[in-house]
Amino acid sequence: MTPTTPHTVPVTVLGLGNLGQALVGVLLAQGHPTTVWNRSAHRAGPLVARGATAAATPAEAAAAGGLVVVAVLDHDAAREVLAGAGGALAGRTVVNLTTGGPEAARDLAALVTGQGAAYVDGAVYAVPQTVGTPDAFVLYSGDAAAYDAHRPVLDLFGEGTFVGDAPDLAAVHDTALLSGMYGMFAGFFQAVALADAEGIGAPAVTSALVRWLGAAADALPQFAQEIDRRAYATTTSNLRMNAVGLRDILAATEARGLPTDLLAPLLRLFEEQVAAGHAEASLSRTVESLRVPR
Ligand SMILES: NC(=O)c1ccc[n+]([C@@H]2O[C@H](COP(=O)([O-])OP(=O)(O)OC[C@H]3O[C@@H](n4cnc5c(N)ncnc54)[C@H](OP(=O)(O)O)[C@@H]3O)[C@@H](O)[C@H]2O)c1
Repeated sequence: MTPTTPHTVPVTVLGLGNLGQALVGVLLAQGHPTTVWNRSAHRAGPLVARGATAAATPAEAAAAGGLVVVAVLDHDAAREVLAGAGGALAGRTVVNLTTGGPEAARDLAALVTGQGAAYVDGAVYAVPQTVGTPDAFVLYSGDAAAYDAHRPVLDLFGEGTFVGDAPDLAAVHDTALLSGMYGMFAGFFQAVALADAEGIGAPAVTSALVRWLGAAADALPQFAQEIDRRAYATTTSNLRMNAVGLRDILAATEARGLPTDLLAPLLRLFEEQVAAGHAEASLSRTVESLRVPR
């Protein structure tokens, strides 16, 4: 595969939602010949005004680009669009940035390679406003040669990291990272609801919360070591202390008539570990109630 360089490689973007628009914006800013397609054609208008070429169908769009980037709502939409592109994908590289699980990635990889194209799956860690900035990063997996060949273009979206040859590996990482993100949001929503019950506005509690979450996140690499070694001795933050603390928080939550649905399952896991004789163990031992048994 011939290495590509920025400014010359024709790129196609299928899907012009918030993410697709941002990706195209970055490509146009770098002077890439860019062909776009979107189910609702009107969304291409502003991008055409900035230099993009609009295609009438996914097949017409795919035929125009050596690199075909897909950013649509979900797996079903990506499947529909790529199946529509069909034989026009032959010889191209498809980089699918649509969020989906590992099963979805494997399915799309089979569809794309079945058309004679290379498949790379990507998980984007950015919002549209940060695409193309140093804050953005993307995890990729799949066809390594195709990834390497198109890396100069892909790196424009955000710092890329290739996590392995299996097409579903980026999605496996993504499922894990987004689970962490949603867990954090769950805690945030509970925090502001509790503050609100006392007449404290969300912004007033949020600045201290962000500071504290940053400090809590600093503990995660140590927890990760404990988890991989299954070595949970600690003098820092044991399960008994955390179970008592979370029980008190849930009692205070109930006393204000608020639901405890988000954090009550976590307390059950702490208690399960304490009941199993691990009261003195690190909080990280909670993962033993969740992970695949060995
Ligand atoms: N936005 C972000 O911050 C962000 C960050 C990382 C990853 N992502 C992922 O990127 C993907 C796109 O996100 P987004 O924010 O761009 O979503 P969005 O703004 O809601 O746009 C959705 C896009 O999907 C298209 N679409 C939906 N159903 C379709 C179908 N059946 N056939 C063809 N096209 C279809 C829509 O076309 P119409 O215009 O015709 O409705 C639109 O272009 C998602 O998987 C998302 O999880 C987004």
